[in-house]
Amino acid sequence: MGFKNIVVVGAAGMLGQELVTHFRGKGYSVFPTTSETLNLLVTEDEMTEKLEPFQPEVVIQCAAFTNVDACERDPDMAMAINKDGTHKLGLASQKLGAVFAYISTDYVFDGLKSEPYLPEDRPNPINTYGLSKYYGELLTTEQLEAYYIIRTSWLFGIHRNNFAQWILDQARQGKAVKAAEDWVGTPTWTGNLAVAIENIINSGQFGVHHAADAGAISRYEQAIRICQMAGLSTEGIHRVHSSDLGLPANRPQFTPLACPNLAVPSWETGFQAYFTQYQQQSTVL
Ligand SMILES: NC(=O)c1ccc[n+]([C@@H]2O[C@H](COP(=O)([O-])OP(=O)(O)OC[C@H]3O[C@@H](n4cnc5c(N)ncnc54)[C@H](OP(=O)(O)O)[C@@H]3O)[C@@H](O)[C@H]2O)c1
Repeated sequence: MGFKNIVVVGAAGMLGQELVTHFRGKGYSVFPTTSETLNLLVTEDEMTEKLEPFQPEVVIQCAAFTNVDACERDPDMAMAINKDGTHKLGLASQKLGAVFAYISTDYVFDGLKSEPYLPEDRPNPINTYGLSKYYGELLTTEQLEAYYIIRTSWLFGIHRNNFAQWILDQARQGKAVKAAEDWVGTPTWTGNLAVAIENIINSGQFGVHHAADAGAISRYEQAIRICQMAGLSTEGIHRVHSSDLGLPANRPQFTPLACPNLAVPSWETGFQAYFTQYQQQSTVL
C-alpha cells in the first residue's frame, strides 16, 4: 500500500458503500462523502475546502446521476453532475495533490463493435448519460496529470437496487418480467470491482482502464441464469426486443469490456457471492 488516505465520493451509492467496506477492511483510512456532505453541484473551491481536512492521497469519484432514462429527460442535470461535477472534483483533488480515480461506464461506447471493447477503443456515446460520463472522462484526461479512468459495466451488489436484485425479487413473488435479448454486456459484482479498483489504483499506471467481470451475456440470458442459479422458476421471464420496453434513452447493444492486465473472475462467481448476501439480507428483513 503506497498510500493510506482515500476519499470515496458518492459513498452512499451501490459501489460507494462496497468501496468503503472494502478499503476499510484492507486497513486504509477511508473518508466517505455523500450528496449531503459533498455535493457535486457546489463550486470547485467549496469542494477543495471539504476535501482538505481529509488530506486525501486518492479521491475515488463514484458519485453520478446514474438513472439513464432520467438523464435523457434532464440533460442539464446530467451534465451538471456527471460532467461538470467530475471536472470540478478532479481539479480540487489535483490542487490537494491527490490522485483522481474516476469510475466511468461501458455506455461511453456505441455498442456497434462485435468484440469486447478495449480501453483504447474510441468512445461514441448514444445517450445523454453516456455523453455526460464521457465528457467527465475527456475533462479528466485533458486537465489532470495523475488520474485513473476506470470503466465498468452492469453492476450488481447488495447495497442498492439493481437488475439482479429486481429479477430475484420479481421471481420470488411470481411476477412476470420482460428482459431485452438485444442488449449484451458484462454483469459485474461490486465486490469483484472493489478488488479490481484497489489493484488499479495501486498500479501507478495512470490512464484508462476497464474493470468488469468476465463474460458476455444478454439481459434476457442473464435473467434466466440468475433464476437458475437461485433455484427459482424462469417461467415469468419474457424475452423482448429493447424497443418493446418503450424507454426514453437508447442503450448501446453490445458493450462487453475487455480488461487487459487484470485477472477477472466470471460474473457467475460474483453472482454466487452476491446471492449469499442477498439471502442473508432477505432473512433479516
Ligand atoms: N450501476 C451500474 O450498472 C454502472 C455501470 C457502469 C458504471 N457505473 C458507474 O459507477 C459509479 C457508481 O455507480 P452506482 O451504481 O454505485 O451508482 P448509485 O448507486 O446510483 O450511486 C450514485 C451516488 O451518487 C450520488 N450523487 C448523485 N448526485 C450527486 C450529487 N449532485 N452530488 C454528490 N453525490 C451525488 C448519489 O447520492 P444520493 O445517495 O444522495 O442520491 C449516490 O449515492 C457511477 O459513476 C456510475 O456512473 C455504474
